[in-house]
Amino acid sequence: PAPGWSVEADVVVVGSGVAGLTVALRYAELAPAAKILVVTKDVLSAGSTRWAQGGIAAVLDPRDTSDEHLNDTLLAGVGLCDARAVRTLVTEGPGAVRRLMERGARFDRAPDGELQLTREGGHRRRRIVHAGGDATGAEVQRALVEAVRAGSIEVIEHALVLDLLKDAEGRAAGVTLHVMGEGARDGVGAVRARAVVLSTGGMGQVYAATTNPAVSTGDGVALALRAGAVVRDLEFVQFHPTVLRLGEGSTGQQPLISEAVRGEGAFLVDHAGERFMAGVHELADLAPRDVVAKTIMRTMRESGRDHVYLDGRHFGREKWESRFPTIYAVCREHGIDPATEPIPVSPAAHYASGGVRTDLSGRTSIDGLYACGEVACTGVHGANRLASNSLLEGLVFAERIAEDIHRVRPEPGDPVEGQAEAGLVDPRIRARIQAHMSMGVSVLRSRESLLATAKALRDARWTPVRVAACTESWEATNLLTVATVLTGAAAARLETRGSHWREDFETRDDNDWLGHLDVTLTEEGP
Ligand code: SIN
Repeated sequence: PAPGWSVEADVVVVGSGVAGLTVALRYAELAPAAKILVVTKDVLSAGSTRWAQGGIAAVLDPRDTSDEHLNDTLLAGVGLCDARAVRTLVTEGPGAVRRLMERGARFDRAPDGELQLTREGGHRRRRIVHAGGDATGAEVQRALVEAVRAGSIEVIEHALVLDLLKDAEGRAAGVTLHVMGEGARDGVGAVRARAVVLSTGGMGQVYAATTNPAVSTGDGVALALRAGAVVRDLEFVQFHPTVLRLGEGSTGQQPLISEAVRGEGAFLVDHAGERFMAGVHELADLAPRDVVAKTIMRTMRESGRDHVYLDGRHFGREKWESRFPTIYAVCREHGIDPATEPIPVSPAAHYASGGVRTDLSGRTSIDGLYACGEVACTGVHGANRLASNSLLEGLVFAERIAEDIHRVRPEPGDPVEGQAEAGLVDPRIRARIQAHMSMGVSVLRSRESLLATAKALRDARWTPVRVAACTESWEATNLLTVATVLTGAAAARLETRGSHWREDFETRDDNDWLGHLDVTLTEEGP
């Protein structure tokens, strides 16, 4: 439908997690008179950031070095990280974390006042700051929302982004939105802006079981694909090894059991109580996430069970309550007492290591369109993201994007009429997409499973009903778009690397596959 209202801004930021809010705050510092608009699908504090538990990785201990953080990140990324992007991340990370503290975030400190640092998978050192024990994301989100509310940044909540507006030269000129219940701005409208920043988060909802909240439906990647932007490495979906097993058929957002629990000494055991990570990797239970997830899957397959256990009984009740209050409470809610019994866990979809391809300033392949945070593929994660590098990536690249927009001052022309619109699909296919993806494009993939999923997704696209434009139909449409491209990329990569595990190509192939899969959508498809 044609936009019923229109507003102008210097910069429109789509999404309100760590990445989006940091772009907005940094740009407001650089250009205090600028009009900055943050639009977000739900309320400001919804989204993935607030669910982050473990923390933010950064070199804050004088005994640690950025070279060590770089090496751990490169090793976890299994050959596909962009070393320049990782160097940027690890050297600018400590400053970005300090500025986050200046913006109001409070991290846990030891009695002597020093920041407490923990470990997670793939890190050879303690370098992860955390807050509220295991509620780091909630504290980061609180601080950023308060800082945004205290300034002159404008916010439109309940605003689902639809499509990118482009000028006659193909540069980004704004976005269209569907706003629900915001008075004069209700319905479909347009924001015209000099720069558009996508910070819409991830796409975990493409799977039936995920740690991501319900809003993580790949909206930014789908928009970018429809706009003709290059999307990279979508096949690398990270599965978090330790997600609380709620029982057969449990779908939607699942409770995360942070890797920091293993960082503090808990360990994985099978049904016989045997530790199974020792001997698999030099870091044992703290091996990179893909290694642990695969080993859990193998153990589950051998035993015929749908979970393994995480044993942290030796922490004792007091440590559980003080160091991991969120996890302790959620376990108790589900009838498990981690102080007296091991926690049943299994892997679930957690993080998109790929996304909209950007350079080191967050620029995408479309002039004036930037991407930041999980929606982006900056090159820091490669084939498997290192734990707690994601909030860090959001912070570091958000600042770079704000600085780039300030420096370059993109100036688009008028949006051209009649821009491409998605054919909406029936929202009821969401559950079907999720079931097919979980069955065929999960931790373990094969040619057969991928081809069957691709066919099921093609069949799902056909909907016999006239579909009303609403959040649910847009989300289903976006999920179908990203599921289709993800499945195609997973079918194309004929090797096992990082979080992409092919049953029919069990080994890493550096001769043919030490490269990226870039996708752009054409009329004919990916
Ligand atoms: C966790 O706390 O285990 C998750 C951290 C992350 O995904 O980086």
